[in-house]
Amino acid sequence: MKAAGDPNLIVFFDGEYMPLGEAKVGILTHALHYGTGVFEGIRAHWDEASKELFLLRPTDHYDRWKRNASILRINVPRTSEELTEITAELMRRNHFETNVYIRPLAFKSAERVGVRPDDVDAFSIVAMPFGEYLHAEKGLHAGVSSWRRIDDNAIPARAKICGAYVNSALASDEARRCGFDEAIFLNENGHVAEGATCNLFMVRKGQLITPSITENVLEGITRDCVFELAQRELGLTVVERPIDRSELYVCDEIFFTGTAVGLAPVVRVDHHDVLDAKIGPITSELLRLYVDATRGRLGRYKRWLLPIYSSQMAGV
Ligand SMILES: Cc1ncc(COP(=O)(O)O)c(C=O)c1O
Repeated sequence: MKAAGDPNLIVFFDGEYMPLGEAKVGILTHALHYGTGVFEGIRAHWDEASKELFLLRPTDHYDRWKRNASILRINVPRTSEELTEITAELMRRNHFETNVYIRPLAFKSAERVGVRPDDVDAFSIVAMPFGEYLHAEKGLHAGVSSWRRIDDNAIPARAKICGAYVNSALASDEARRCGFDEAIFLNENGHVAEGATCNLFMVRKGQLITPSITENVLEGITRDCVFELAQRELGLTVVERPIDRSELYVCDEIFFTGTAVGLAPVVRVDHHDVLDAKIGPITSELLRLYVDATRGRLGRYKRWLLPIYSSQMAGV
């Protein structure tokens, strides 16, 4: 099987399928200089028992991508359904039988100098084999970053805008150099926003709590999955409210959510144990539900999934 970065990996670029090694952009490309691109991250999970690859909520991801690209006035000239079909075709052409990460990117592609964007847009979709992003089996050690989360009035955090990820790269680099697995951002109000690449949930006094979407966070699709799983399977309504930094030190459970990280328990923040530094019961239960739902093992969540190799379409 072709690995991530293999030049023979089949990707979609410039309106056609081609080997990764042939998909090139010029060094004057607007997005390369000014960060004027919007990307997306989608997962497909391989289920060995059923020998099936399940693409997770593709139309929701593509709807978000297209809407967020419009913040930068980037047009993606395909419907979400067409983009889903291209993605499924990429997986078939690459014969993937493993977990896959899909990275769509829409960008300002004019090759000239000058920050003012014009209407020349391009997009690509790359699908690659992808294992664990963070190794969270025993729980992660997260650190509150000295970098603040970008504000909506500077660069909107709700969209995956390429330039905005300098903020995440700085925090992520700092966290790893300090010995943490992942960074936690505070926003300019001093409230907890999210991880460098993931949303954050906390359990406190029996409540499942997450910052609201106006706290400068990405409007995560995994976050949305957790809302539904918590409510329907555990009878827990998620409370959206500001979270203070010090609540992270006195709460009962914390976990991150994201397409790349999945649902990742956090057992230490800064150098404070979260309760007894063990993965808590609500986190464990949600993790089990999320894994089962995304591998096609829970009937009521099959509508989240597009099975790639069987002909049956599951309500996408
Ligand atoms: C900054 C940030 N927050 C949250 C998320 C989680 O969003 P989703 O669950 O849609 O992947 C991501 C990435 O995927 C992210 O980059």
